[in-house]
Amino acid sequence: MSSILLVTASPRGDLSLSSRAARTVADALARRKPGARIVHRDLAAAPLPHIDQDFAVAVKTPAEKLTAAQAKLLAASDAATDELLAADAVVIATGMINFSIASTLKSWFDHVARAHRTFRYTAEGPQGLAGGKKAYVVIASSGTYTDGGPAAAMDHARPYLKSMLGFFGITDIEFVDIEGVGLGFEPDAVIVERALGKVSAVDLATAA
Ligand SMILES: Cc1cc2nc3c(=O)[nH]c(=O)nc-3n(C[C@H](O)[C@H](O)[C@H](O)COP(=O)(O)O)c2cc1C
Repeated sequence: MSSILLVTASPRGDLSLSSRAARTVADALARRKPGARIVHRDLAAAPLPHIDQDFAVAVKTPAEKLTAAQAKLLAASDAATDELLAADAVVIATGMINFSIASTLKSWFDHVARAHRTFRYTAEGPQGLAGGKKAYVVIASSGTYTDGGPAAAMDHARPYLKSMLGFFGITDIEFVDIEGVGLGFEPDAVIVERALGKVSAVDLATAA
């Protein structure tokens, strides 16, 4: 069965535009593949903890030598990594928060960046092990960063997301740019609909 991983991360809960738009993209992908299931990793509702000393030790320690705390952290990391590896497509949503991604999403990346699972180092350099799938990345922001204007240099979200996904071997990435929201110049709904209208996976006529 085909699996679509939906990762949402806005700290704004029900108000999140990126989470709602990402759900629309995931639903559209699922409709294309009968029987596909959506696995929702809701980082706002259930954030992964910031990685710490126990985590850093746990990823390099044999299972039988782990403390209970380390085993628990590793199990959470394994579960998130399993979801990413099992997915046929990934839809990631984040708001632009202080010119970068939501901190809960950063924690998710810290948990799924696992040597010998999502990447490995070879004599020729790093090799991604989670490739063969497309990623849709939905980013909502008040500012506009993709028009080549001066704000582009402040965008630490898209370059980071592209680098991390590429590091995992996921190079087929479609960004869904929801820009200029919350400013009152244009209704947010119109901005969201326009952004979704450009997504190859989404048929707005049938979008939820
Ligand atoms: C704490 C906070 C920080 C924000 N920082 C930025 C920012 O640096 N740049 C920007 O363009 N918008 C910023 N915004 C606006 C959000 O990107 C915007 O509200 C967006 O819709 C958030 O995504 P969401 O709707 O999925 O929650 C910020 C919003 C919040 C709440």
